[in-house]
Parts: sequence; C-alpha cells; structure tokens
Amino acid sequence: MEEMNQPVYSLPRIGEPAPAFKAVTTQGDINFPADYKGSWVILFSHPADFTPVCTSEFMTFASMEEQFNNANCKLVGLSVDGLYSHIAWLRTIKDKIEYKGMKNVEVTFPLIEDITMEVAKKYGMLMPGESNTKAVRAVFVIDPKGIVRTIIYYPLSLGRNFDELYRVVIALQAADEFNIATPADWRPGDDVIVPTAGSCGVAKQRMEDKSGETTCYDWFFCTKKLDKDTVLKKILKK
Ligand code: BEZ
Repeated sequence: MEEMNQPVYSLPRIGEPAPAFKAVTTQGDINFPADYKGSWVILFSHPADFTPVCTSEFMTFASMEEQFNNANCKLVGLSVDGLYSHIAWLRTIKDKIEYKGMKNVEVTFPLIEDITMEVAKKYGMLMPGESNTKAVRAVFVIDPKGIVRTIIYYPLSLGRNFDELYRVVIALQAADEFNIATPADWRPGDDVIVPTAGSCGVAKQRMEDKSGETTCYDWFFCTKKLDKDTVLKKILKK
C-alpha cells in the first residue's frame, strides 16, 4: 500500500499473528503462515543472491536444517530476487562453494522470490537507511499457532549466529512447556527463572516454596533447576 508516493513499511510485532501472504518459492507455492500450522518456523530475509555473507549463511542454515526440524522448526528464506536467480545461486553453492568444511550443500528449505517486495514490506525487512533495494537480515520466529515470538535484525554486513537462533527456538519452547523464563545466555541444563509473570501472591508462594526446588534470592529473583534431558526429551523428536 502506498500513500502520497511514500511506501508504507509495516512491522510485525511480538505476540501478534504473523502477517499472511502467498508466494512462489524454490520448493513450490506457499501460503504463509497457514502451511506451517503446528510447527515452529523461522522466516528470514537475506539481502541478495550471489553475495558472500548470504552464501555462508545459507550453507550454515542448510547444514543445521535437520537439527531445527528435530525441534519441530521449519526454515523459510526470502530475498527480493527472482526465482531463477535463487535456483541458479543455490545450484552454484552446491556445485562450487566450500565454507568451514561444508561442501556440496543442498538447500532444501523454501526460498521465497519477492521481486515486488510485497512480503519484505509487510515484514519490515526493508530499512532504507541501510539499503533501498535489498532486505536486511531479518529473523522472525513464529510459533505453531502463527504468533510472532521473536524478531531479530542484523545489518547487511553482519552474518547471523545460527547457534543463537537454535538456542532461541529451544528457549521459547522450554518457556512454553515448563512455564518458566530463561535467563541470560541460558542453555538446556542451566537453571531457569520461575515463574514467568510476577505477582505478589506468586512471589510469596515462591519465597515459601518448601519443596527445595526453587531458590529465591529476593522476591523478584527465583531460580530452579531444570534438567537438560527433561528439556530436550520434551522438545526434540529424537
Ligand atoms: C553479503 O551477503 O555478502 C552482502 C550482501 C549485501 C551487502 C553486503 C554484503
């Protein structure tokens, strides 16, 4: 939608439904997020095909796809390039590029063509201060009900940390499954924060917890152990 020749850039918000769209991808047509109901999904944009940082990112993400799928999380990429550019770039990556020991990497998750920039505009992937013609590196983590749960942006020059994105997916699922919050740098096996939402009644109950599971340092900071196996058994398929 354009108003007085000024493009309107919207921005999804955490806690709200992921904006819906239909698109053509390297794996066929998609109806987003409806096609992903019941799965977590990472929708991410990259600036352009045939660029080096994006190439290193796609190789890394493709190599981790099974790991993400095992956590019930699907991957969907996007750039404002066309389908034939996507296909040619992914073929070149498979045939020619080696990076950090990865080679012959086949990208089997869908890569959306968005030459009209319709999706990029809907998802706030265009940041004119950075580029008028390319999407920045945006990441949207969307839950099985189609709700946006995490948004992360990186500029053109900075490749993403995919271990961090995996940590985000696991931490969001752990928070939902165990009704906890995850502290700084949390990884499965680390203590968690209880409970997620504070209230006087809940705080008092936590302070008086006799089970020995919860340690309260003050009314606002209570932690408890959450075993790594318990977390991973709940989240991972195998
Ligand atoms: C890259 O992926 O290498 C890249 C893309 C756009 C601008 C700068 C770098």
